[in-house]
Amino acid sequence: MHDHQAPSRTVASEEGLKAEPGAPRKKIFVKTYGCQMNVYDSARMVDVMAPSGYSEVDTPDDADIVILNTCHIREKAADKVYSELGRLRELKKEKSGRGEELLIGVAGCVAQAEGEEMRRRAPVVDLVFGPQTYHRLPEYVARLANGGPGIVETEFPADDKFGTLPMPEKRKTLARGATAFLTIQEGCDKFCTFCVVPYTRGSEFSRPIARILEEARALVDAGVREITLLGQNVNAWHGVDETGRPATLGRLIRALAQIDGLARLRYTTSHPRDMDEELIAAHRDVPELMPYLHLPVQSGSDRILAAMNRRHDADTYYRIIDRIRAAKPDIALSSDFIVGFPGETEADFEATLGLIRTVGFAQAYSFKYSPRPGTPAATEEDQVPEDVKSERLQRLQALLGEQQLAFNAGCAGRTMPVLFDRRGRGESQLVGRSPYLQSVHIDDAPEHLFGSLVDVVIEEGHRNSLRGRLREEAGVLV
Ligand code: 5AD
Ligand code: SF4
Repeated sequence: MHDHQAPSRTVASEEGLKAEPGAPRKKIFVKTYGCQMNVYDSARMVDVMAPSGYSEVDTPDDADIVILNTCHIREKAADKVYSELGRLRELKKEKSGRGEELLIGVAGCVAQAEGEEMRRRAPVVDLVFGPQTYHRLPEYVARLANGGPGIVETEFPADDKFGTLPMPEKRKTLARGATAFLTIQEGCDKFCTFCVVPYTRGSEFSRPIARILEEARALVDAGVREITLLGQNVNAWHGVDETGRPATLGRLIRALAQIDGLARLRYTTSHPRDMDEELIAAHRDVPELMPYLHLPVQSGSDRILAAMNRRHDADTYYRIIDRIRAAKPDIALSSDFIVGFPGETEADFEATLGLIRTVGFAQAYSFKYSPRPGTPAATEEDQVPEDVKSERLQRLQALLGEQQLAFNAGCAGRTMPVLFDRRGRGESQLVGRSPYLQSVHIDDAPEHLFGSLVDVVIEEGHRNSLRGRLREEAGVLV
C-alpha cells in the first residue's frame, strides 16, 4: 500500500519543523468540542504533529500550540469557543511576557463556517482550518514558525485527508483503552434544512473497506475490544467487498466482526433513509454488533419532517423500527429531537410526544432549534419564540427522562457483559458500558478488570447509570 504516503509538500514542511537533536520536545494541546467525529479528528491532529517533535499535553498552560477543535451544530458551541479564545489571549500575553510563544489554532466546523471572520473577531488566532485540511497541520505550523502571516484554510482540498494520515501503527494516540472510535464515512448530502453539516463537512465520502479493516486490526492489536464506527451519516457508507461487489454498512460490519479479539461493534449516527436490509440483517446475525441503535427522527410531525427535508415521515420511521425489532427484539433505541423548528405548532409538538410514546426510547438527545446562518430554515419567517421552545423542550425531556429511567430500572436483576473502560470517582470503582451503552458502576473492582469484558449483576437502574456487582464466579469474558 502506497496511497498513504504523505505528499512531498507536507514532508518538506515537517523537515522544516524538526527539533534540534537534544532540544526539548514541543507540546500540543487539543481541546475538543462537539461530536465523536471531532474526538477522532483531534487524535489524528496529534498524530500528524508527532513526526515534527510534538507530544500531547492535557492542559493549555505549558503548550506551544493550542488547537480548539470546534463544533457548529448549535449556537452555544460557537459561543464557548469565543470565550475560550478570550482566556487563551491572556495566556498568550503571559507567555510572551516570559519570552515564550503560543500558537493558537481553531479547527473544525466553526472554523469552516466562520473562516476569515474568526480572525477578525478574535485576532489572537493564528490559524483557522476546516475539518478537511487537518492533515496539513504540520505545513501550516511550519509556515507560522517561520514568521509567516496568519492562515485561514477552509477549502475542500483534492488530496484525500484519510489517505495522507499516518499509518495506524505510527499513531501515538491509536488506543488509549479498550474502546476506540473509527471514522469510516464523512460528510452529508441530505441537506436537512436546519443543519450546517453539508456545508462544514462537505459532501458524502466513504473510506475504502481495506483501509478500515487495516485500521481496525491495528486498534485490536493495541488492545481495543470495542470499536464505534463513526460518520455523520454512517449508514450511508458504501464501498466494494473483496470480491468487487458493492457493499453497504451491514457487509462492512460482518467483515469487521471476523477480526480476532474484537468483541464489540457499534456505529453512529444513522439516517432512517439508509437503514437497509443488509444492516438490519447484521443486527440479527452478528453477535458482536451491540443491540443499540441511535436513529435520529427529529420530529413526529409529518408537516415538520417535510419542512426539515428529512425525506421520511413518521410512518416510515415506525416501519423501520418494527423491522429492526423483529430482527433484534432487545434492541435499545436512541434518537435526536429538535423542538421549535420554524412553524412548529402545539399540535406538531404533540405529534412528537406521540411518536416518543409509541416507539419508547432507552436514551435520547433533544435540542431547541437554533438557526444556523446559511441554512434554509434560518431565514424562515415563522420562528418559534424562545420561551415556547424552552417550555416544549422541558416537556419533551420529562417524557424522555421517564422512558430512560424505566428502561434502566428494568435492567435491575439482569446479568450483562460490561466492558470496563473508565475509572470511577471512588477508590477501586470501575465504570464500563453495558451492551445497551448504559454506564455501569461497580465498587471494589480488582484493578485487573480494567479493560476487560466481565459479567455484572445489575442491582440498581438510575436515570443516567446502572450500579452492579461482580458475580461470585466472575471470570473475564475477553
Ligand atoms: N438546531 C438544533 N439542533 C440541531 N441539530 C442539528 N442542527 C441543529 C440546529 N440547527 C441536532 C439534530 C442532529 C444533532 C446532531 O444535532 O438533532 O441530529
Ligand atoms: Fe445534518 Fe441531516 Fe445530514 Fe444529519 S442527515 S448531518 S441532520 S443534513
